[in-house]
Parts: sequence; structure tokens; C-alpha cells
Amino acid sequence: MSNYHIKHLEEYWQVYRNSVRNPENFWEEIAEEHFLWRKKWTNVLSWDFAKPEVKWFEGAELNITENCIDRHLATRGDKTAILFEPNNPDEETLHITYKELHERVSKFANVLKSQGVEKGDRVCIYLPMIPELAVSVLACARIGAVHSVVFAGFSSTALATRINDCDCKMVICTDGSYRGNKTIDLKGIVDEALKSCEGVSTVLVAKRINSEIVMQDGRDKWLQPLLDKADTVCKATIVKAEDPLFILYTSGSTGKPKGMVHTTAGYMVYTAYTFKNVFQYRESDVYWCTADIGWITGHSYIVYGPLANGATTVMFEGVPSYPDYGRFWEIVEKHKVTQFYTAPTAIRALAKENLDYVNKYDLSSLKVLGTVGEPINEEAWHWYNDNVGKKNSPIVDTWWQTETGGIMISPIPYSTPTIPTYATLPLPGIQPALMDENGNEIKGNQVEGRLCIKFPWPSMARTIYGNHGRYRDTYFSAYKNNYFTGDGALRDAVGYYRITGRVDDVIIVSGHNLGTAPIEDAINEHPAVAESAIVGFPHDIKGNALCGYITLKETGEGRNHDNLSKEINQLITDRIGPIAKLDSVQFTNGLPKTRSGKIMRRILRKIASKDISNLGDTSTLLNPEVVNELIEQAGL
Ligand code: WT7
Repeated sequence: MSNYHIKHLEEYWQVYRNSVRNPENFWEEIAEEHFLWRKKWTNVLSWDFAKPEVKWFEGAELNITENCIDRHLATRGDKTAILFEPNNPDEETLHITYKELHERVSKFANVLKSQGVEKGDRVCIYLPMIPELAVSVLACARIGAVHSVVFAGFSSTALATRINDCDCKMVICTDGSYRGNKTIDLKGIVDEALKSCEGVSTVLVAKRINSEIVMQDGRDKWLQPLLDKADTVCKATIVKAEDPLFILYTSGSTGKPKGMVHTTAGYMVYTAYTFKNVFQYRESDVYWCTADIGWITGHSYIVYGPLANGATTVMFEGVPSYPDYGRFWEIVEKHKVTQFYTAPTAIRALAKENLDYVNKYDLSSLKVLGTVGEPINEEAWHWYNDNVGKKNSPIVDTWWQTETGGIMISPIPYSTPTIPTYATLPLPGIQPALMDENGNEIKGNQVEGRLCIKFPWPSMARTIYGNHGRYRDTYFSAYKNNYFTGDGALRDAVGYYRITGRVDDVIIVSGHNLGTAPIEDAINEHPAVAESAIVGFPHDIKGNALCGYITLKETGEGRNHDNLSKEINQLITDRIGPIAKLDSVQFTNGLPKTRSGKIMRRILRKIASKDISNLGDTSTLLNPEVVNELIEQAGL
């Protein structure tokens, strides 16, 4: 039996039981056999969920880029590491071999050093999906700097918040980016953001669209000339197992975004192990995850997990609809993609288009299909299974989070029988628990509750940057000695898990995690707005869309509601990004509130979803009359 590569269901159960009975031995064996360590650990795991404090492989020293690049050079030097597919299909595909990646990362790391970046410094990366994004991530890791990638669809205000929160001294960006047939002025967004970021002394600018941009003297530097001068060798900085590798922001239900801190050794071991098993990766495979590296999916399953396995990982710069809705399938055919990993929102969008877009292409290379980011509805699951997989490629519905660092619950393809909408079974080492409202674990099968994890796993986030108290309060206080995920789930008769969705004020729109508070803050900045509340409602493609309930100050009354809606959406776009725009706005005279003044989102959610059959007890509200008014306004 091999712990490392599971090939059938019996083996899964054997490995799983073993991993739970003796987690430390389990992870130690994997760490020992499959990675390059500069110094061995003295202790596999120490943990205390009350503090909370978790340490894996303490005492060990390593560099993750030696594991993701250097150690493959002898056997896979000429193998493609990164296969770059540009936005424009007429532009050439780039095959970056492991040797070339080694050279690119080394040079980039030397540039970072020459610009004064040191071990432990935070570097903000604000780049489109071009090779420089993966290379700069790895270059930071090469020298022990902490990367903080900000998705290049975020606005200047959102970017500034993230730069300041973790005191980045450098920003890496491009002149601009391509998105289908549009270009985006990324450097302009950076310039705007940096007006409020005093700590940033250097901006490295890569050329992508050759636009005219303003370079600020002393601060902004073109990347290419620096790379041209840089040495091709950069000795990896050896770091400790628990040294931070990166910070990645995720939305909370309240307050500012949370900078989740991931550390080095455990993250590496877990992402490598899960990549191998969840995608049943084999040496000659061509693996493609369509996510952006600006999200955790891209960090773990475009960059670190695949490269730690010496895989070929596709990086796609474009969008599924350009030049037409066949683009994904054209790329699958062109590169004979074997594993394809995407989000339900993309599947739903493509399923709406003509089937010819799929059927035109030869998809027979596919062996495994993946989905992530939100619950996948049954219809989308079948469309994916029938038309893309031709009922021949198992679908892995992978449940996990920015905070978990790697996939937690997922079928093992060709081992675990799949059922639509079920993420199925926990991966080895993962111990889920369902909790009731009183904080007690619900044992047994055919039960539903709040999803927690009972025992540490190697890739869990260790803290929120600069705010350990918030980390404790958010994840470890609701259920004693448990990590609380924020999701609800049910466990069926055979022990399969189905994720039912968020149980907090986080709304997942098109696979993007959005907190209600920052959006409401943006709306409330409008001079005519008195108060607002955001809720999600079901949407065919996005999964959820946002509905805003807004009350106006006296000054706003009598104003044109269409114009107001537009102004409010513009504010949201400026403060957060277009992904957070409202699909529906209802101006109202009041918001339903409890006697303690808390907005009853539960009721608003029902009204926005046009389902008022079961509103529950509204008599305890401070202003029950508002509910009827809202229902009337909505025409229900
Ligand atoms: C939230 C985490 C992890 C990568 C992308 C999202 C939801 C994620 C699934 C799934 C149902 C899912 C959960 C989770 N989610 N995967 N397979 N089925 N829900 O990372 O932005 O941190 O969001 O996404 O609600 O808590 P994220």
C-alpha cells in the first residue's frame, strides 16, 4: 500500500483510517519520502486550537522553490513546467521548461534583491495571468520574501487596503492587461492606489500591452532591463518550516479583508499530496486549472501543487468567451489537456451557449474534471459530465477555502463513486465534524449541521496578518477545539458530505467570496443613502447575485432611482471592483430590524429570492410593517 498515491476505494479507506489514527506518522512518512529538506524536523506537529497555535514540521529547513523547480532539473529539465496560453489565440503559446523556469525565477529573485527586498519583506503582486505572475510568486519564495498577490480585477481602493494592511514595500504590475477584446489600465489603478500607500518605495512594471503610461521617477522601474542585467543563478534562501510563504486576502462577514497567512513546509506537503491524488496526476499529463493566481486555487493548484509534482501546468490569460465560447475546449484539444479544473459559474455560463462550441473539439484527452468555489447545482454537474466528460471523466467536486490552503473534501477520481452536488469524502488527514446550534457535535449519518474540522492539517492558515485575535474569534471560538468553516453541510447515509452553503454573511457571487460589510460601507458613502443591507439571491449563472435594500436620507428622496442605482454601483466598482456590483436594488422606507437594532437579513434574503412562504416569526421585529411594504414593493 502506498500512502502517497491512492488508486482504489479500499485503499482510500485504508489510507484514511491510518491517517486519522496516526496523523503524525502519516504526514511524516509523506514528507520524508517526497521532498527536499535542508534540515529535518524535530517535531511533526504541535497544536492548540484554544490559542490557536499550529506548527508542522518544526525544526525543518527548506526552500519551496528547490522543491518546485531545482529538484526536477536533473530528470525533467526540458519538460514544460508552465504552458502559457495568451488571451489572443493568434499570439503564440509559450512552453516554459523547468530549466527556463529556473533561470527566470533566479533572475527575478536577483532583481528583487537588487531592489532591496529581503527575507520576510512583503511584496504585493498585482499582475494579469501572464508568466511573470507565477515567476514573481516563485521569485519571492526563492528569497524568503512573503508574496501578497492581489487579484488584478480589484479596484485601486481595494488594492491600497491590501498593500497597507501588510506593509508591502514593493508592488509588481504591468502597464496594462488584456481581457477578451478589452484592455485594462492596471498601472493607472496602481498609481491611484499608491496615493495612499506611503510604505511602497518601488514599483516594478512589466510590459504587456505596450500602452503609454506615466513612470514616476525614483519609484517606478521597467522590469525587463533589470532582468536583462540580472545573474541567472540565485541561491535559494533556506527558511524555517513555519516561516510565512504568503499572505492572501479573503472577505470576512465584517470589517476589512482578512490577510490569511500561510507558512512553508506544511503548505508544500499538503498541496503536493492533494494535487497528486485529487487529480490522479501522472508524469505525462497536461493539467489545466482555469482559476486566476490571484485566488487560493491558483496559488495551490496552478503554481505550488503542480510544480511540486514536476507537472506541466497551463496558465490561461484570457476569458472563456473570447474570441468565442469555444475557447476552453479549443485549448483542451490543442494541448491535449488531461485534467481540467474550473468553477460552477463558468460551467453554467458555457452551458447556456450552443453545444456546437463544445462538440467542435476533440476532448478525448480529458481524464479528470474538477469544480471548485461554490456548490455546483445538479444541472450544471450533468452538463459538465455529459458534454465535456462524455460520461467518461469523473468529476471531482472539491470543497475547500482560502483558509484551508488545500482541498479538504473531494472524491478521489476512479476510486470514489461520485454523486452530483456531493463533495463526497474527506481527504486523508482531514477530520470533519458537523455541529448543532448549541455547539455539540452531531454524530452519525443522515444529519445536517455546521461544518467544522476537528484536527489540524498541514496547510491550514496560521493566523490573520496583524490580527491573531480576529483569527481566533472568527475560526476557533464558535465551537471549542474546532476550526469553524462558515459553511453548512449534510452527511448522507454512507457518510458523503454535501456542502449546502455559507451560514454567515459571506455571499459567493460567480465563485468570488464577498463580505456584505465592505459593500454596504461603499453604498453608505453615497451622500443620499441613509442605510443599506446586502443579501444574495439565486442567479442562473452567478450562483448568487446581490440585492441591495437601501433607505435614503431626506435629501435623497424624490431623486431618480435609476440614476441613484447607477451611482451606487459606480461607488461599489471604485471601492471594491465590478464583481461586487448589485444586480437588483430596492429603495425602501426602512429595513427590518430586531429590537436590538440588528438588521434581519434572513427576511431580506427570502424576499430577494421571491420566496416568502416561510418568513418565520416577524412579530418580534422593531418595525414589522416594513416587511409587508417590502413584499408589496417586490410584487410578491
Ligand atoms: C468558500 C471558500 C477554495 C477555492 C475557492 C474558494 C465555497 C468552495 C466549494 C464546493 C460548495 C464550495 C464554500 C467555502 N466552496 N468550494 N466544492 N462546494 N462550496 O475559496 O474564496 O476562500 O471561498 O467557497 O462556501 O467556504 P474562498
